[in-house]
Amino acid sequence: MKRTAIGFLGCGNIGCGVYRLLETHGETMAQNEGVAFDIRRILVRSPGKKRSWDIPAHLLTDRAEDVLDDPQIEIVMEFMGGEEPAASYMIEALRRGKTVVTANKMALAAHWEEIVRAAREHGAGLYYEASVCGAIPIIRALNESLQANRITSMMGIINGTTNYILTRMREEGAAYSDVLADAQRLGLAEPDPTADVEGYDAAYKLSILATLAFHRHVPVESVYREGITKITPQDVQYGREFGLTLKLLAVAREVDGRVEARVHPAFVPDSHPLAGVGGAFNAVYLNGHACGEMMFYGRGAGDMPTASALVSDMIKAAKAKRHMLPAVGDARCEMAEDWACVHFVRMQAKDEPGVLAQVAGLFARHGVSIASVAQKAGGDRPGAVQMIFLTHGGSEQAVRRALCELNHDIASVCSMIRVEGV
Ligand SMILES: NC(=O)c1ccc[n+]([C@@H]2O[C@H](COP(=O)([O-])OP(=O)(O)OC[C@H]3O[C@@H](n4cnc5c(N)ncnc54)[C@H](OP(=O)(O)O)[C@@H]3O)[C@@H](O)[C@H]2O)c1
Repeated sequence: MKRTAIGFLGCGNIGCGVYRLLETHGETMAQNEGVAFDIRRILVRSPGKKRSWDIPAHLLTDRAEDVLDDPQIEIVMEFMGGEEPAASYMIEALRRGKTVVTANKMALAAHWEEIVRAAREHGAGLYYEASVCGAIPIIRALNESLQANRITSMMGIINGTTNYILTRMREEGAAYSDVLADAQRLGLAEPDPTADVEGYDAAYKLSILATLAFHRHVPVESVYREGITKITPQDVQYGREFGLTLKLLAVAREVDGRVEARVHPAFVPDSHPLAGVGGAFNAVYLNGHACGEMMFYGRGAGDMPTASALVSDMIKAAKAKRHMLPAVGDARCEMAEDWACVHFVRMQAKDEPGVLAQVAGLFARHGVSIASVAQKAGGDRPGAVQMIFLTHGGSEQAVRRALCELNHDIASVCSMIRVEGV
């Protein structure tokens, strides 16, 4: 039986999950896989702190050197979170020829090139399945199962917190702030929810997914990002009347050699497989030129689902004769500045003859074609109505230009939401 010495960087939710999985299932895994693990040291901030799983005190340390300098440790498991010092510790471990297994999308996406270079230059392994979508094996699928494909597009629900909030807004007609407060009470949203609700978490994950899918580095700064904080119950309900379900979508496409990578609220038709992904679940729906459409679905967070991906990477690393690095070329990735999709535009407009014709004329002048319009009573001001336009698929910049020229004496824009998957 091969025994591999490992060290942990961090032992919070995820670290305790990994420890627990190894303690409760390690023997069976050893029998099945022929590898066993010895945990030598665990770096934490406060060794005396009470943890969700009983960790032997002699393993805990607050000195990173105890893990990084230990020549016997072959695999460094990183789940301390944050950008620094996590990224520097990972790079240091790789430079010493140690394999790194990480759950940290932020450090990995923000320091992708340095981390991959350190792994390549020192022949060390780098495994990161848990950094995107928890237990769902999407990284392995992109790296190992779908290499024969040109991936043309990818759409994902890759943040469980926002999906939980939007699912409840749809089911209950509830307001964003009420559901968020509830999610925080239930521990499904952080006390500071910014990373989730403003789309940063999904942007880090999309940067990693798009980089692997298109074989060129898609920097996180190039990912267009909009969160869900401005979504109103009206948008969710009006969308519903059009047969649409609202999600925080991560979308990546390659069109004519340019890459689109964007995270924003988007409607999908109720009949689309992503519409049925409810609560805190995650899913990635992709299209490959040979494999066709595919959807990966499962738990994208939580201690045990994430530990499942981390321990699986650990087994793979321990058994590897040669580590495989991401198949990503050095060519610069050209990002798209515009993209085509259907747009849902909700306006508050004067309830007067000719207003609809003026707005339709404005769209027409900018080449935006309207697929359907609905008018609803109940504007915020007396004498106002709500008008909802669904466009045909077309340039986003054209829609934006048209809306910039809207005469505010007759109508104002309440929301503009993309519709994908039509
Ligand atoms: N939570 C999830 O469901 C989930 C899912 C997928 C991926 N992830 C990723 O997994 C990582 C960890 O998440 P988590 O929820 O386990 O976080 P967490 O509960 O906050 O745990 C972080 C751990 O790292 C230690 N730590 C943090 N900064 C440190 C420093 N500067 N020096 C030494 N130790 C330090 C903490 O020590 P103390 O315990 O002493 O404070 C703690 O043990 C993050 O990158 C996260 O994005 C999480």
